[in-house]
Amino acid sequence: MTTTNLEKTRFDFPAINQKINGRPVIYFDNACMSLRPKQVIQAMNEYYEQYPACAGRSMHKFASKVNEKMSEARDIMANFIGAKKSEEIIFTRNTTEGLNLVANSLNFKHGDVVVTSDREHNSNLIPWQIISKTKKIVHKVVRSKKDMTFDLEIFEKNMNKNVKLVSMVHTSNLDGYTLPVEKIIRIAHDYGSLVMLDCAQSVPHKKIDVKKLNVDFVAFSGHKMVGPSGIGILYGKYHLLEEMNPFLVGGDTVSNTTYDSHTLLKPPEKFEAGLQNYAGNIGLGAAAKYLDNIGRENIEKHEIEINRFITQNITDIPSLSILGPEEVEQRGGIFSFNIKDIHFHDVAMMLDNIANIMIRSGQHCVHSWFNANKIEGSARASLYFYNTKEEAKIFVEKLKEISKLR
Ligand SMILES: Cc1ncc(COP(=O)(O)O)c(C=O)c1O
Repeated sequence: MTTTNLEKTRFDFPAINQKINGRPVIYFDNACMSLRPKQVIQAMNEYYEQYPACAGRSMHKFASKVNEKMSEARDIMANFIGAKKSEEIIFTRNTTEGLNLVANSLNFKHGDVVVTSDREHNSNLIPWQIISKTKKIVHKVVRSKKDMTFDLEIFEKNMNKNVKLVSMVHTSNLDGYTLPVEKIIRIAHDYGSLVMLDCAQSVPHKKIDVKKLNVDFVAFSGHKMVGPSGIGILYGKYHLLEEMNPFLVGGDTVSNTTYDSHTLLKPPEKFEAGLQNYAGNIGLGAAAKYLDNIGRENIEKHEIEINRFITQNITDIPSLSILGPEEVEQRGGIFSFNIKDIHFHDVAMMLDNIANIMIRSGQHCVHSWFNANKIEGSARASLYFYNTKEEAKIFVEKLKEISKLR
C-alpha cells in the first residue's frame, strides 16, 4: 500500500473528519489511544443492535451468534500474532490486566528473580514491586546505555538460573525504541527463564509472530490498535497457561462446583471470569482485520517516514531536544521532545489551542525512568498510519512558532 493509499484510510475515521473551531483535527496522540474506523464501530454496533446476549450460557439464537462471533474473534487474534492455537488467546481488559494476570498467576517462590528494563510502563513495574514484598521475589532493572539503546551485556550479567521471568517492554512508549527482543529471548531461555513482552506499543505498529519469536507471554491492548477500549489480549504458550492458576475466578471459569470444591475449565476459559466484553471482543477482531488489510509492515514504514520528516525539519530549532536514540529508525512513530525553557504541558496546550494538534505531555506512566534520569517530563507526538506529511508540516511550523516564545 502506498503512502497516498494509507492516508486515504483516514476517511474511515470519523474523529479526524471533523473540524473543531473551523480547523481540522491533527491527532498525534496514538501511543495513548488510537482512533477507531467506522468498520470497528459498526462491528460493535451490530452486536448491540442484532444479538446483544452473552456467550457460553443460554441456548437461544442470540447466544449462539455471540458464541460464534467470540470464537471468530479469538481465531482472528490468534492469527494476528501467529499463535499456534486460539486457546492461547485470553481476552483481558487491557495490557495492564494481562501483565498483572501473569504476575499473580505464575507460581513465584521466595528468591525467584524477575528482570525488567529501565523504561517500563508502570503496568510492568508496580506488579513486580508488589510481589517483591508479598512473595519475596527479587526485581532487577537493566539500565540502558547512554544512547538509550538496550544494554545486552548488562542484561546478560543480570541473568542466572534464579531468573524465573524476563518481563520487558517491546517498543517503549517513552521514545519509540524497540528492544532487541529476539536476542533477549534467546539469552533468557538459555538461562531457563520465561519471557513476557509488553507489546502495547509494538503489536499495533509492527508484525509480531509469537511462534517465531518463541516468546512465552505477550500482552497488548485494543485501544492502541484501532480497536475498542476496555479490551486486550494476553497470549501465553498453552502448556504454561495450563500450569497456571487464575487470579480472578467465578462464573464461566469452572465446569462444576460443590459447596466445598470446584473444577476449573481449561485455558483460556479459566482465565476469563464473569460476563465478557462481547462488543469489545468482536470490535477487536474487526480492528485486527482492518490492520491486516493495511499491513503492519506498511504502517511501520509510513510512521518512520513521517517521523523522519519531522526530525529533519526541526534541526533549525536549537532549543528542541529529542528523547531517545538519534536515528529515527530506532524511534519508530514516536517523537518525544522538550523545548528549553518552555514547560512540556505548555507546549502541548499551545499546540492544541493554536492548531488542534493533539499530543501528550508528562511522564507517560514511565515516571521511574524520568525520576532516575532527573528529567521532569516530555512532550510526545505519536503517529499512526492515517497521519500525513501535511499534518507533520503544520506540526513543525507550530513548533517553530512556539520555540520563539521563550
Ligand atoms: C508500553 C505500554 N505498556 C503498557 C501500557 C498500559 O496499557 P493499558 O493502559 O491499555 O493497560 C501502555 C499504555 O500506554 C504502554 O504504552
